[in-house]
Amino acid sequence: MFLVAVPLKKGNQVIGSVVIYSAITGLNHHVNSFKGIALIGAIIGIVLATVLSIFVSRKMIRPLAKMEETARHITEGEFGRQIQVTSEDEVGRLAHSFNRMSTQLKEKIEAIEKLDRLRQELLSDVSHELRTPLTVIQGFSEAVLDGLVKSKEQEKLYLSNIIDESERLRRLVDDLLDLKGMEAAQTFDEMEYVVLNKLALITVERLRHMANSKEIKLTITVPEQTFTVWGNIDRLKQVLTNLLDNAIKHSEAGGAVRVELGMKNNYTFISVKNSGPGIPWEELENIWERFYKVDKSRSRRGTGTGLGLSIVKKIVEMHGGKVSAESEPGQGAVFTVYLPPTEQA
Ligand SMILES: Nc1ncnc2c1ncn2[C@@H]1O[C@H](COP(=O)(O)OP(=O)(O)OP(=O)(O)O)[C@@H](O)[C@H]1O
Ligand SMILES: [Mg+2]
Repeated sequence: MFLVAVPLKKGNQVIGSVVIYSAITGLNHHVNSFKGIALIGAIIGIVLATVLSIFVSRKMIRPLAKMEETARHITEGEFGRQIQVTSEDEVGRLAHSFNRMSTQLKEKIEAIEKLDRLRQELLSDVSHELRTPLTVIQGFSEAVLDGLVKSKEQEKLYLSNIIDESERLRRLVDDLLDLKGMEAAQTFDEMEYVVLNKLALITVERLRHMANSKEIKLTITVPEQTFTVWGNIDRLKQVLTNLLDNAIKHSEAGGAVRVELGMKNNYTFISVKNSGPGIPWEELENIWERFYKVDKSRSRRGTGTGLGLSIVKKIVEMHGGKVSAESEPGQGAVFTVYLPPTEQA
């Protein structure tokens, strides 16, 4: 029983009372139904929280697990491996950064591997190039020392071979040091306005005796217009000297070498054209590589080191220019150097 009594007063005197009472079973019923509702609410809450947490953790954990798996593949050497990114939230952004990192890692590793390969190739090329003249020098010196030389003429021939090969060795070392010096540099320290007309005329004259000795007709066409480039004068002379040296070497006796100067597509060009057997088209792209020689047998004795054109290419590129080689078999070859206009250089 639930009972409440309140006295009624008049002054200080109690004159009656109000009494309210009710059976407690009805209240119990209400309390129980409240308890039931609270229990169901709690169960629904727990179920919802569980479902939600499974959903959220799946959404978060799955891409993280993928990242962990991809990272494992990367450590095993699969550089550049990517994760499929589906969301744009924090996890998605993390995956994007991960992919970028993986791509950069791949590029860096490839660059390091390429450098390593190049160094290995250089080492084996240099050793090979050093061995040939050293063998010749040793062979001829031993022949002289062992008294195998029968005449003064023969001795002279042996000694001149030794000098030729020593000269070849010196040039090889000079050229290698030259290339090495330019390897990391972007540009030359000493730059000035160079008038190509004058440079071409001077260089051609310097090589005229070489052309004459093979009875090669060496001509130069210099236009009235003055062509000026921003460059290193000694290096530009070296470019033209190397091209002329090749052209004269590869022309047949009594052939022709022509130097031309002009403007094409806003670039100043110098071209060196020579008659002779030319270069097979499949070799044209290789000739700019270090130590590359089309005719391997001819190159073994007394000729170049195969570094001339790679030096030309490097110098021209450091001037912001381009090189090109064209050849028709039997029709000789044309080598052209393009240099950027002065204001862009
Ligand atoms: N004008 C040309 N005609 C035909 N072949 C050429 C010509 N210029 C270059 N070559 C070929 O390209 C190769 C590479 O030339 P490059 O100038 O780099 O080396 P090289 O002349 O052999 O030696 P170096 O210039 O170091 O003395 C030459 O060995 C030759 O086979
Ligand atoms: Mg050469």
